[in-house]
Amino acid sequence: MNDTPLSAVPDPDAIPAALPESAQPLVTPRSAAQRGPRLLERIGGRAAIERIVEAFYVRVEADAELRPLFPADLASGREKQALFLEQWLGGEPRYSERFGHPRLRIRHFPFVIDERLVGRWLRHMGEAFRAVGVGEQELAEVFVDLGPLARHMVNAGQDVPRTPTGDVFLT
Ligand code: HEM
Repeated sequence: MNDTPLSAVPDPDAIPAALPESAQPLVTPRSAAQRGPRLLERIGGRAAIERIVEAFYVRVEADAELRPLFPADLASGREKQALFLEQWLGGEPRYSERFGHPRLRIRHFPFVIDERLVGRWLRHMGEAFRAVGVGEQELAEVFVDLGPLARHMVNAGQDVPRTPTGDVFLT
């Protein structure tokens, strides 16, 4: 399941928070439309997003708490994550063209997600952005919105349907 040498992957508990407190006043939350294509360009466009998602999944694969939530084959999730992130950052809406409205919270109902897991997810994503050389300003602009979006995925202890139905859930 995992060909990545663990020594190549940072220990998640040793990784600093994706967005340092000091970076937060730099930006205020904005809609995807307000963020516009410039942020995606500054990050490095589609090619950079693909490398970020690659780096993120390397970290997910090595994370003993997160890995069990994901299916054995990570390929389709990796592709969807890249399509979504590019769209969310103002790029072409290729995710929605293929899969419809993201409805991310609902799509995540089958996975019991608590705040701790969200913290690990965010740390890995922050590290992935840094690993491909995204600058601190761009990182702050992304995570001021990605942080709240990730926390929106918390559903542990909530009475939500856990069984995939129709086309809403992940398949
Ligand atoms: C801002 C935060 C997040 C974003 C943008 C995001 C995005 C996505 C997207 C786009 C997908 C694919 C959905 C589809 O099937 O069309 C997905 C799948 C998934 N996500 Fe998230 N997610 C987030 C947070 C989380 C968190 C916090 C967890 C767990 C701790 C999580 C676990 C999963 C799992 C297990 C899948 C299924 C992957 C697969 O089927 O291969 N996600 N996520």
